Amino acid sequence: MDNPILEIKNLQKNFGNQQILDHFSLQVEEGEVVVILGPSGCGKSTLLRCINGLEEIQGGEIFLRGENISDRQKNMHEIRQKIGMVFQSYELFPHMTVMENLLLGPIQAQKRKKAEVEKEAEKLLDRVGLLDKKNSYPRELSGGQKQRVAILRALCMHPEVILFDEVTAALDPEMVREVLEVISDLAKEGRTMLLVTHEMQFAKAIADRIIFMDGGKIVEENPPEVFFQNPETERAKQFLHVFDYEEM
Ligand SMILES: Nc1ncnc2c1ncn2[C@@H]1O[C@H](COP(=O)(O)OP(=O)(O)OP(=O)(O)O)[C@@H](O)[C@H]1O
Ligand SMILES: [Mg+2]
Repeated sequence: MDNPILEIKNLQKNFGNQQILDHFSLQVEEGEVVVILGPSGCGKSTLLRCINGLEEIQGGEIFLRGENISDRQKNMHEIRQKIGMVFQSYELFPHMTVMENLLLGPIQAQKRKKAEVEKEAEKLLDRVGLLDKKNSYPRELSGGQKQRVAILRALCMHPEVILFDEVTAALDPEMVREVLEVISDLAKEGRTMLLVTHEMQFAKAIADRIIFMDGGKIVEENPPEVFFQNPETERAKQFLHVFDYEEM
């Protein structure tokens, strides 16, 4: 890879004396969709949180377009504007309307003009079928609607990379699809994204590359057609077997 947009080099993350990420390295190309799979507790969320500057790291470096963003002297607020993150639990502000949630970051952190951001937010809401909810409060929305708003909130910041951590895991099955459709559209637009998901069919369809983690390391890395049809490692075979079993 000549010019990765995101580069993680030898990342080390411990919680107490437990090593979570063990010299983890990864390069992501601009426009690439990387899906991270792995058993519960293997460090997927921790990895995304480290990239987004939400966790202290004990070693290694993270570069965004060649700039070292893991340097603690850096302004984390600025980095979080460039790297958006969407969580399982939406994390919308309950006392603010949908529109107010969307405007907050661009106006407060990026000092953009309200009228301009509002116009953009309306366009995005319209695109995901939620324009009529712009003055609603999060409690008045379904889980799938809340998650679509949370994705738009990340988009309103014009991030260079978006991280998704199991964004459909808390949703009822009928709401999963509407959220996955929004993410698929973003992939088609050429957005650079890292996704953690347990939706295997979705992973297969959307990923340019699958990263399979275990024990804080990458165990296998392959295009989805190889990973799902012909995994190289025993560990990945076992993992996929469990999913097939559960799906039945
Ligand atoms: N704040 C914390 N303090 C201490 N240990 C933590 C903390 N957060 C995570 N861990 C531990 O780090 C390990 C990795 O957790 P992480 O949440 O990254 O796993 P994961 O791969 O996202 O799992 P899941 O698929 O269940 O979401 C786990 O052993 C977890 O208990
Ligand atoms: Mg997790």
